[in-house]
Parts: sequence; structure tokens; C-alpha cells
Amino acid sequence: MHRRSFLRSGACITAGLMTNVRPSYAADVEVEIELPENSPEISRHIYGHFIEHLGGVIYDGIWVGADSKIENIGGIRKRFVEDMKRIGAPNFRWPGGCFADGYHWRDGIGDRAKRPRTYNYWQAQMPKGLDHTETNQFGIHEFMRLCRLTGAEPYLAANMASGSPKEFHDWALYCNAPGGTVTQAKERAANGDEKPFGVRWWGVGNESWGCGGDMTPQEYATLYRKFITQFPAYQPKPFLVAVGPRGHSKDLDLGWTDGFWAAMGDGHRSRVDGLSIHYYSDFRNTPERVASFDQSGWYDVIHKGFGTGDLIEKHWAAMGKYDREHRTKFVIDEWGVWYKPGEEITPAYLLSQPVTLRDAVHTAVTFDVFNRHADKIAMANVAQTINCIHSLFLAQGDRYTRTPPYYVFEMYRNHMGARLAPIRHKVSDLSVPSREGTIMMPALSGSASVKGKTLSVTLTNPSLDSAQVANLRLPANVSSKEGRGTVLTHSEMTARNTFENPDNVTLKPHPVAVSGKRAQISIPPHAIVSLELQIA
Ligand code: AHR
Repeated sequence: MHRRSFLRSGACITAGLMTNVRPSYAADVEVEIELPENSPEISRHIYGHFIEHLGGVIYDGIWVGADSKIENIGGIRKRFVEDMKRIGAPNFRWPGGCFADGYHWRDGIGDRAKRPRTYNYWQAQMPKGLDHTETNQFGIHEFMRLCRLTGAEPYLAANMASGSPKEFHDWALYCNAPGGTVTQAKERAANGDEKPFGVRWWGVGNESWGCGGDMTPQEYATLYRKFITQFPAYQPKPFLVAVGPRGHSKDLDLGWTDGFWAAMGDGHRSRVDGLSIHYYSDFRNTPERVASFDQSGWYDVIHKGFGTGDLIEKHWAAMGKYDREHRTKFVIDEWGVWYKPGEEITPAYLLSQPVTLRDAVHTAVTFDVFNRHADKIAMANVAQTINCIHSLFLAQGDRYTRTPPYYVFEMYRNHMGARLAPIRHKVSDLSVPSREGTIMMPALSGSASVKGKTLSVTLTNPSLDSAQVANLRLPANVSSKEGRGTVLTHSEMTARNTFENPDNVTLKPHPVAVSGKRAQISIPPHAIVSLELQIA
């Protein structure tokens, strides 16, 4: 349909709404949504989490202790539990990160008063005079309690660098062996959990090319086989995740993926269900600041979010040379924007950067990429959920706030476990300022999915200057009479939430015009919109 005639017919049906939809000046974008028979399901685990014993993530972030004045459920911060339930958190990856490769799980079980104080990998990075000794108050039982309270699945990372296959297998037995079988099950029951934890997701090491053992891919492949060959065969069937590349390296670290698969393919049959990828939009070695920036800084960060697509496609192709049927999927178990240190909410909370609307837009762009690659990704975990890097929350004592990225998780919730509905749009790329000069980037990011009678569409306008009006054409055989829109934006590109002003950046209802096979929504500059259409 011609754009102008569509606008006319839309205006007839929902005249009042249509007036609200169109801002005084905005460019039109035609967005076509499809729903092919074979479109993949978007794993709900793509919207997953990562929490590590690092700075203020676990202690004070999540675990406040049962005797705390801060509202808690058996020691776990109540607000955190409520907010995670609200976004349907599907999983938590724990206990690290780099911490995992120095962690011995037995230190975190039994009477909390008697647990040992141990060395924490992150101690070396603490500012002078500040201590980061691990108290082990938060161990596997506390972690499982967090999972049960929030409805999330556990994803455990094994210690490969200073642990052994035996320690790993004992942990698996402790978690999954039914009562009345092995001694580890009895021990678990004595520590308060009669029923097995039923852990399905197992990470076999973390960053084994760096803090997890400084190995070559060939060395890692050998160790991986040793760690998994005798993995105890209790239910649920494990989903084993091998360490993959450092995706934010200049060359995307394709050599790791190739080297690992070459070594694994050499006559061996060990199963690899998932290959981990870590991809930080890494600004640690640049002048970029987290809370104050200019237009170049805005675009450089968003641009890195779009880069996630290239990373996924290149590693998928590299892996496909060996895993021709693509039985192994990606587990992007660390991702986020990482700025250089110096703006933490308090010095002891390492990496607790006060993220802004810019990081929320980066989140949306990244999720759209993940959704569009739903056939390749089993899981992804934001690094990290609270008080660290790409946080959804900042917390210190009784002070607490959601950050702008939190609301993106809320806006994208409908995509979890839904069927991908590919979208197409024709809009010229933006030419935008960058620290490097001028760069090109897509003028629109988006993804769509269908679950039952709901078609969900998320669209992001990265431009700092111009609004857009998205004219959506619904898939064949689908029509709609009713829709709901939501927007996340702010007049200031640097807007963020603070303990003093926690609702500065928050979701607002946004008008949508719907008529049969068409829907229309405006997207203000530097904004994310979501639409939920009831379809027939
Ligand atoms: O998320 C912080 C750290 O980043 C993790 O511990 C490590 O795996 C990565 O380098």
C-alpha cells in the first residue's frame, strides 16, 4: 500500500490515536513483518544473568544477610528478588567469571558461622587498604535459594584452573544425585536441601585463555575432555558449555574457535552443547566515560552493540567448518558495555559503573541481534546483573535503584520463548560522528516475535536528532485491532537513575495506531519502543 493512502485509511479508523502517533517532524520507515513456518524459537535463556563474587555484586548487592535491617528473604535482598521476578529472569550464571577458577565449592557449604575466609581473585584489583576476603556466606545453597525465589535456572561455572575433574564431579553429585544414592546427596540433605538441585547448565571453565588458566585452545580442549568424560549421569541431562573466544579482541579471536574445534575434532567424540562467547563493548582503554559524554561517545557505544551480529555470524561460520550440523549453540555468557574504572558508586564495588540511557539503547540493539540469531544462541548472560559493568541495578546498603537497561529487559520480556518473526525495513544508514571521524550505522534496530495471540515488536531509534514513524505491515494471515505501546527515553542522552532520583529514566505508555494489517508507532530520537499487538 502506498504510504500516504495507508496513513489516510489508518486515520479513518483510529483518528484520535493517529494524531498522537505522528510527531510534528519525523521520517517514515516501512517495516514488514514476516512469520515463516520454520522460524526458530527465541530461547528465553537469551535474557539471562551473570553474578560473580566481585565487588558489590553478591555481598550487599544480592546477599544482605538474614540479620540485616534491609528487607530480605533469608538473607537475599527482597527488592532484588521482586525485580528479577518482574522481568522473568530465566537463569543466573554463578559464581564467576574469573572468581570461578579459584573457587572451591566446599568452602560455601555447612554452618555459615564456620565457613572459611578465602582469597578472592578480585582482591588484587581492590583500591589500597580495602579488603575483599571471601567470607563464603553465599554458597551453593544460598544460590539455589535465589534461583528458587526468582524462578531462575542455575548455571554453574566449574573451576578448571585450580580445581580438578574430581572436584567438579563431586559438585555435580552434590547438586543432582537423588537422596539415598551417593554420600554427596546425604551431605546436601544434612545441609538443608533434601531434594536435588537439578542443575542442567554447566560451564566447563571460564576464559581459559586468560584468568581461567592462560591456556592455548589445544590445551583447553584436552582438559575439557578430561573434565567431562566422567561427568555423573544423573538427571537432568547436562548442557555442557565449553570456553569459547574473547569476542571483543580486535580479530574477534576467531583463532580460538578454530583451534578448539580442530583439537576436538581430531578423532574425539566428547560432547559440546554450548560454546561460550564473551563480548564486551570494551571502552576500558579509551577516554570514554560512563556518565558524561558527547555525541561521538553516544554513537561509538551503540555502534559496538550492532557489532554483535558480525561476531556471531563469523564464529558460527568458523564453528560450522567442524560442526557441520550445528549441534553446538552459542552461550554468550558475558556481554555488556565496559568503561574504564573511576566512576564506581563506591571504591570497593569494583566496576560498579553508573550506566545511562546510552547503555539501555545498546542493550536493545544487542537483544535485537540476539533475537535475529535465535537459531544460533542457546543462552546469553548480561555482565553483570547488579553493581557491576552493565548493571540492571545499583545498590548500597538500603539505597537501591533500577538502571535504564533494566527497563529494556522488561520491554523485551515478551520475546522470551516466542517464535521469531523476521522484520525487514528499508532505511538509509546514519552517518554519525565518532572518535574515529565519521561512521555509518543502521538508522533503526528492531525485532519481532509471536507467542499465542500476541505479536511483539521492539524498535530502537539510535539517532540523537530525528524522530521516525514506523509503519508496520503485519505477517500474512495476521491482523490486529488492538495494541499497546511503551517507550523508554529521556530528553537528555546522558540520563540515568541515581539513588536520589531512581525514576528519572523509566517506562511510559506510548500511543500505537492499529488497523487490520497495519500498525503505526512513532519512535522519538534516542528511544526504544515496544508494541504488543493482539492478533487474530
Ligand atoms: O565480568 C567481569 C570479568 O570479565 C569476569 O570475571 C571475567 O570472566 C571477564 O573477563
